Order: sequence, then C-alpha cells, then structure tokens
Amino acid sequence: MVALKIIVLFVAGFSLLSSAAAGWEPCPKPCACFSNDGEKYVNCSRADLTSVPAGIPTDVQQLLLSGNGIAKLSRTDFAGLKSLVGIDLSSNQLTDDAILPGTFDDLPFLGVLNLAANENFTDVPKNLPAQLYTLYFDYNKVTRVTEDSFRHLPQLVYVDFENNQVENIAPGSFEYQHHLTGLSIGFNQITELPDGLFKTTKLQYLGLRFNQLTRVPVDLPGTLTDLDLVGNKIKEIPSRVFSNLTELQTIQVWQQDTLTTIGDDAFDGLGKLQILDADFCSIDRLTNATLSGLSGMWELYMGSSRIPYIPTGAFHDIKNITTLWLDGNQLTTLDPVLLDTKTLPRLSEVFIWDNPWTCDCHLRWLKEHIDNNNTAPTIDSPHIMVCNAPPKLKGRAFDTLTPKDFVCEDGDYDPSTAKSSRPGRVEVVRDERMHMPFTGAGKSLRVPTVWRDENMSICTPAVVDDYSILCMAGVVLLFLWVGFSMGIFVGKIQRSFSEGLDKMRF
Ligand SMILES: *[C@@H]1O[C@H](CO)[C@@H](O)[C@H](O)[C@H]1NC(C)=O
Ligand SMILES: *[C@@H]1O[C@H](CO)[C@@H](O)[C@H](O)[C@H]1NC(C)=O
Ligand SMILES: *[C@@H]1O[C@H](CO)[C@@H](O)[C@H](O)[C@H]1NC(C)=O
Ligand SMILES: *[C@@H]1O[C@H](CO)[C@@H](O)[C@H](O)[C@H]1NC(C)=O
Ligand SMILES: *[C@@H]1O[C@H](CO)[C@@H](O)[C@H](O)[C@H]1NC(C)=O
Ligand SMILES: *[C@@H]1O[C@H](CO)[C@@H](O)[C@H](O)[C@H]1NC(C)=O
Ligand SMILES: *[C@@H]1O[C@H](CO)[C@@H](O)[C@H](O)[C@H]1NC(C)=O
Repeated sequence: MVALKIIVLFVAGFSLLSSAAAGWEPCPKPCACFSNDGEKYVNCSRADLTSVPAGIPTDVQQLLLSGNGIAKLSRTDFAGLKSLVGIDLSSNQLTDDAILPGTFDDLPFLGVLNLAANENFTDVPKNLPAQLYTLYFDYNKVTRVTEDSFRHLPQLVYVDFENNQVENIAPGSFEYQHHLTGLSIGFNQITELPDGLFKTTKLQYLGLRFNQLTRVPVDLPGTLTDLDLVGNKIKEIPSRVFSNLTELQTIQVWQQDTLTTIGDDAFDGLGKLQILDADFCSIDRLTNATLSGLSGMWELYMGSSRIPYIPTGAFHDIKNITTLWLDGNQLTTLDPVLLDTKTLPRLSEVFIWDNPWTCDCHLRWLKEHIDNNNTAPTIDSPHIMVCNAPPKLKGRAFDTLTPKDFVCEDGDYDPSTAKSSRPGRVEVVRDERMHMPFTGAGKSLRVPTVWRDENMSICTPAVVDDYSILCMAGVVLLFLWVGFSMGIFVGKIQRSFSEGLDKMRF
C-alpha cells in the first residue's frame, strides 16, 4: 500500500515536471515543445503541415512553423495563444491574399513575424498586427515599395527586405516608421532612393548591398551608425556627402568596380567612424584630404583598387588606425613617413603585397624594416612582395634581395613608371648641374634625378643614397691625403677641391 502510494506520487511528480516543461499542456504532433532562454518554444518546422496544428499550448511564446505547406491563415489558427511574441512562417505557400482579416487579432504581444521566402508575396500583407516591431520579409517577390506598404505598421523597428525584386521605393514609404532603426534591403534592383526617404525614422543601420544605386543616398538621418553600400554601381563618393552623419561607425562600399573617385573631405566630420571598407573598387587617387576627419578610424580597407600613389600627408588625420589594407593597388613606392608609428601610434598591421614596387633606394627602408624584425607595424606576408622595377629586379621577390639591392642608379629610372607613381603631370627632369665630376671604383657618382611638378618647382630634392655619400667622402679624403702627404700641387688641388664643393652645392 505504501509502496503503491510512493509509485503514484513518483509518477504524478514526473508527469508534473514534464508537463511543466511543456507548459502544462501536451505538445501536439508533430511539434517539439521546449524552453530556451526563458522562452517557451513550440517547433513545428519542416513537418509537411498544410495548416497550423490544433492543440498548441496556450502559453507558447515562440511558434516555429517554417518549411511547411501552409497556404492560408485565419483567426482560428492562433486563437487563444495570447503569449505569442514571435511566429516563424518562413518558407510556406503564403500569397498576397492568404492572410485573412483577424488572423493575428488575438495576439496582443506579437512583435516578431517571419514571412520570408513564401510562395507569392508581391507586397507587405495588409492584415498584420499593428504592434509588429520586427518583420522578416526577405526572399519574396516585391517589385515596388509604396506609401502603403508599411503604413499599417507604425511600430516597426527592424525590417528585413533583402532578396526581393524592388526596383523603386516611393517617397514617403517610411514616413510613419518613427521607430525604425534597421532596414536591410540589399539584393534588390534599386537604382535610386528618394531624397529624405528615412528623414522621419531613427535609422541606425541601412543595408543596401547589391542593388543598382549609382549615387550615394543623401539626406539620410543623423542617427545612422552603419551604412552598407557594397556591390552597387556608385561612381563617386562626393566631398562632404556624409557630413550630417556624425554618428557613423562603419561604411562599407566594397566590391564596386565603378567607384573611381573619393572626393576630398568626403568623410569629413566622421570622427566616430571605426571602419571604412572600400576593398575591390577602382579608386584611382588618394590625396592628403581623402581621409581627412577620420580621427577615430581603426581599420581602413582599400585593397584591390587602382591607387597609384599615396602622398605623405594622406594618413595625417587617421591617428587611431591599427590596420591598413592597401594590397593589390598600383603603388610603386611608399614614403616611410606614412607608416611611422610616431604619428600613427596604434598602427600594427599593414597589407601592401601585390603592388608593382619599384625596388630602388626610396623603398630600401621598407626592405630594412621587414628584415629588421618587421614590427611596429608588421608588414603582412612580405614573402609575397615582388619588385616590378627597376628592370634588373623585375619579378624578384623581396625575400631574395637584401637592402643593398635597393639602389638608385642612373638608368634605373623608368620614366613611365615614375610618372604613374606621382599625381598630376609629373616629369623626371635631368638637371645638368647635379652631375658630379668624380668617378670612383668603376661606378659613376651621379645624382641626376629631380622630381619636378607641372609648375617646375622641385618637390623632392635629389636623393643621394648612403652609398654615394660614402663614396663621395672617400674621394674627398683621397684628394686631401694625396694633397697633404705629397705636399705638391697644393694650390691646384685646393682649387679643384673647392670646385668640387661648388659643384656639390645643391
Ligand atoms: C525545429 O525543428 C526542425 C525540424 O526538426 C529543426 O531542424 C530545427 O533545428 C528546430 N528548431 C529549433 C529552434 O529547435
Ligand atoms: C503572384 O501574384 C501576382 C499578383 O497577385 C500575380 O499576378 C502573379 O501571377 C503571381 N505569381 C505567381 C508565380 O503565382
Ligand atoms: C545635411 O542637412 C541639411 C539640413 O537638413 C540638408 O540641407 C543637407 O542637404 C544635408 N546634407 C547632405 C549631404 O545630406
Ligand atoms: C581610439 O581607439 C581607442 C581604443 O579602441 C578608443 O578608446 C578611443 O576612443 C579611440 N580614439 C578616438 C579619437 O576615436
Ligand atoms: C600633402 O601633405 C604633405 C605632408 O604634410 C605635404 O608635404 C604635401 O605638400 C601635401 N600635398 C599637397 C598636394 O597638398
Ligand atoms: C622581435 O619581435 C618579437 C615579437 O614580435 C619580440 O619578442 C622580439 O623582442 C623582437 N626582437 C627585437 C630584436 O626587436
Ligand atoms: C600649379 O599651380 C597652379 C596655380 O598656382 C595650382 O593651382 C596647382 O595646384 C599647381 N600644381 C601643383 C601640382 O602644385
């Protein structure tokens, strides 16, 4: 008798426990009922259902019905499920008229609805609950967003509208979405956004990747923190186009081979921007002002573009930078000032492989830096860095060279390379005054090359490399030694010595 009582108690306790886990009510076939993160789930996904099963526990909060054949919804389907917060109806057979009036009327807390990838939605259904704050509507067949598409959903905070076929969005389509903070509308066919489309929203994230936009949207709300314009057809990022968007933290414009131009001061005022990702574009110019104002930026991605030259003031403002991606450009040389951790104290990693380097004395510092422990900053993958010039080093990997191979010799300059490495119309000018009369060790000691810009002012003084200076000093010492030890022709030697000095003065 006692034993029977114990067994009864045990069984009762067990069923109590299990029904507590299932929310006191039995779980309908073929669903699974469980708790996760303090929420009660009923999972009826991928179960060949053609309608919502009866007998769903009334305290369900998340109802998963994805991947079934549900083609119609009405008030009876969710009746009594008053605790529902989210319903996943993605990948069903729903069409424009499939959701009957009243379907969601009994669900005061329903905030999240997933209607992605259904049979045929050409617009946002009308009979959705007005309190909805998150709507997944990706992978449907909407071709145009109108003033009425979202009008009945004023509480929307986040909308996923990716992978539809939207070609245009009417002005005022988001006029009533004062709480909207995130919109993903990538992978559509949008060519243009009406100005001020999001003016009344609190948009922070705007995802527009892989559309057909030809210009940067203007008049975006000042709340924006993340802008994704990846894979569009934008040609230019005009000067100060983001000047009202002082909260921006990331801008992504990568994979946009139409993008050639970034206007000076294009990012001016964006002191909070952390990441600028413009990889895989066709940017053909970087000036001292291209990155101005980006004082908080950590990471700059400008790899796989067409940047021919980086002027020494280009990184002046980006004092917080840690990582620079400049691989796969047209860089032939790089001034050491640009990567100096005295001015860029946090710079730790630089990606500059796959550029057509001119391995001459101007780049010797880089080879020395790589050989000398390669830290502060680290040059990534130096073993795949290859010289494109001078001719005798063309095709040589940095790894196979020593710093001594990086020399500037007369004849090493290929004016065509030199030209493409400088902005504007720049010529290599040979200045006759610079020729040294000395010869030594079978090697001519000449400093023939001066850079001149179009206005014919010398912009970079001729560089005498260390080796030349040593040789010059040696020759001068030889003159002195000969002159003083032999004590003859002193006057003559003094004359030629001062003549030599005159010629060296430049
Ligand atoms: C719901 O059930 C489906 C099919 O059994 C399963 O693949 C999926 O992972 C389940 N989802 C959750 C959140 O448990
Ligand atoms: C989708 O719905 C639209 C409008 O109701 C209709 O014109 C179109 O034929 C439908 N397409 C398919 C594939 O069912
Ligand atoms: C910045 O805001 C002002 C005032 O709202 C507006 O006139 C201007 O067009 C905006 N600039 C851009 C680039 O959106
Ligand atoms: C630079 O980065 C550090 C560390 O992430 C951050 O705390 C600091 O605010 C940044 N400075 C600026 C000017 O954004
Ligand atoms: C760019 O900045 C550098 C360093 O501040 C300066 O020497 C150079 O003249 C500037 N170039 C132009 C075109 O302003
Ligand atoms: C070289 O770098 C390593 C780590 O990057 C460091 O531990 C070591 O002290 C450095 N050596 C010199 C000589 O700077
Ligand atoms: C040449 O001079 C003109 C007029 O002073 C100036 O606008 C231009 O920027 C100068 N070019 C260079 C490369 O300094």
